[in-house]
Amino acid sequence: MPVEPNTIHQKDCFDLLREIGDGTADLVVLDPNYQDWDDLLARGLFEESIRVLKPTGNILLFTKKPYDLHLRNKIDPLFRNELIWKYKKNGNWYSHRMPIYTYQKIYWCCHADFFYNPQTGIPHDRTLGDERRQDQGDEFIGYGLDEQLFTIDYAYGGQWLKDFLDIPRKRENKTIPTKPTELCQILIRCFSPLDGLVVDPFMGGGNVVFTAMRERRRFIGGDTDEACFKFASEKIAQR
Ligand SMILES: C[S@@+](CC[C@H](N)C(=O)[O-])C[C@H]1O[C@@H](n2cnc3c(N)ncnc32)[C@H](O)[C@@H]1O
Repeated sequence: MPVEPNTIHQKDCFDLLREIGDGTADLVVLDPNYQDWDDLLARGLFEESIRVLKPTGNILLFTKKPYDLHLRNKIDPLFRNELIWKYKKNGNWYSHRMPIYTYQKIYWCCHADFFYNPQTGIPHDRTLGDERRQDQGDEFIGYGLDEQLFTIDYAYGGQWLKDFLDIPRKRENKTIPTKPTELCQILIRCFSPLDGLVVDPFMGGGNVVFTAMRERRRFIGGDTDEACFKFASEKIAQR
């Protein structure tokens, strides 16, 4: 039985993905426990995600050091770019023989004809001049404040997506993993169209699917953990 859009499930990621039709998802978010990446890749998680993806769809994969290396190699044929998510002001301390960890990575994969909305919908901060984008003909060469700038239409779009996202992680619950709403909003707005289908097989507390719902996308979410499933179910029921 195929899973219906706008539902979440207490299921293993492979069982869930197998019930999603070929070429139906606009965005697949893969955010497993990072130490599981090698095992999940060996079992075909990336191929299964590509199977459910529309030709214009995107896959976003969360990771961090040291799990990023094999993942990056494995996804190389469809790799397009990466975002750095700085999630902690002071960082996580692992060892006095290594730098303190402050960021995670989000790898972006897609086919050649992908959906991309370059603006986040987050209002511009005019004090930074971030509404301006420096272009030279068709070639994008950067942002900045100098002569070659043009000003974009304020009615559309908000801040341009940057490859460095400084968004503090606020845990909503001591034991349930949740990504910050602003990060979910940005990823959903930039990487999926209105009414598109967002699939999150490792949804944890469900912020990606919840935000997808609020951003007028359809969603399918899953997690093996009962407490996560319950937390996400309650969140979605509240709307
Ligand atoms: C890093 S957390 C991500 C949570 C969530 N995406 C968030 O917003 O923070 C990984 C989640 O994957 C779930 N998980 C682990 N193995 C799984 C599997 N084989 N299938 C589905 N979910 C799994 C865990 O229960 C956990 O909630």
